[in-house]
Amino acid sequence: MKIISSVSEMQIFAEELRRSGKRIGLVPTMGFLHEGHLSLVRRAREISDAVVVSIFVNPAQFAPGEDFERYPRDIERDKSLLQSEGVAVLFTPGSGEMYPQRFSTYIIPEGISSVLEGKFRSTHFRGVATVVGKLFLIVQPHAAVFGQKDAQQSIIIKQMVRDLNFNLQIIVAPIVREQDGLALSSRNVYLSPEERNDAPILFQALQKAEALIHTGETDAAAIIHEVEKTIRGKKTAAIDYVAVNDAESLTEMTTTQTGRPVLISLAVRFGKTRLIDNIIVQQ
Ligand code: PAF
Repeated sequence: MKIISSVSEMQIFAEELRRSGKRIGLVPTMGFLHEGHLSLVRRAREISDAVVVSIFVNPAQFAPGEDFERYPRDIERDKSLLQSEGVAVLFTPGSGEMYPQRFSTYIIPEGISSVLEGKFRSTHFRGVATVVGKLFLIVQPHAAVFGQKDAQQSIIIKQMVRDLNFNLQIIVAPIVREQDGLALSSRNVYLSPEERNDAPILFQALQKAEALIHTGETDAAAIIHEVEKTIRGKKTAAIDYVAVNDAESLTEMTTTQTGRPVLISLAVRFGKTRLIDNIIVQQ
């Protein structure tokens, strides 16, 4: 596995890969890799000849007071995991490479970036879109793989690709969960034993919502109420939001009687740890 930390070297290497006819698959990450990330890498391997994984904890997507400084990092462990997954290139730029002095050009997604996560993290998707756009320009991938856990992020990236004519395929891979249903996240390491014990309630609540829809409930407010009631049963959980949206357009649904896939998503704080999760219900 080749390790590259300079933007210009990555650009040159990507050019060479393309010139030799290789299909490049990119998996952008912030490191501290878990099985969820590795499932994205495996998906990328299936559809490309050379997989590039980027590890960059992107300061632009963290607001002041969020967990940028304490975000977990373990680059040596990440390297050996990626090596054993047959990754061609690990791209690990520093902050100065990605955001040199006087950096001042951002990609600002509008509309769908102000709902759900955007209501609580107003500059988050500007940071995500900017760094992902830069990675697309640097790595020149034919395809990039993202995780369904960040449902809104994936929708915003697809929109950005359409709007700005990036010439690549976006693949969204399913959520990987622990045995007890907790969605894998690098942030799970922050949870105290009690919080970790309570956290699987998120998936249980989402499953209840899915069952409600399948038994004929169509009122979004009733579905949200049931999810919130279930989560409130755990004393370490504090809800930021539970929402019911169209799974493709993110339009808020008051009724699920549209026949379209429904995205039920939530963000819940356990102590200082904020977890997100979601489920798509096909009707
Ligand atoms: O999903 C993530 O880990 C990040 O938001 C991403 C896509 C790597 C951009 O920093």
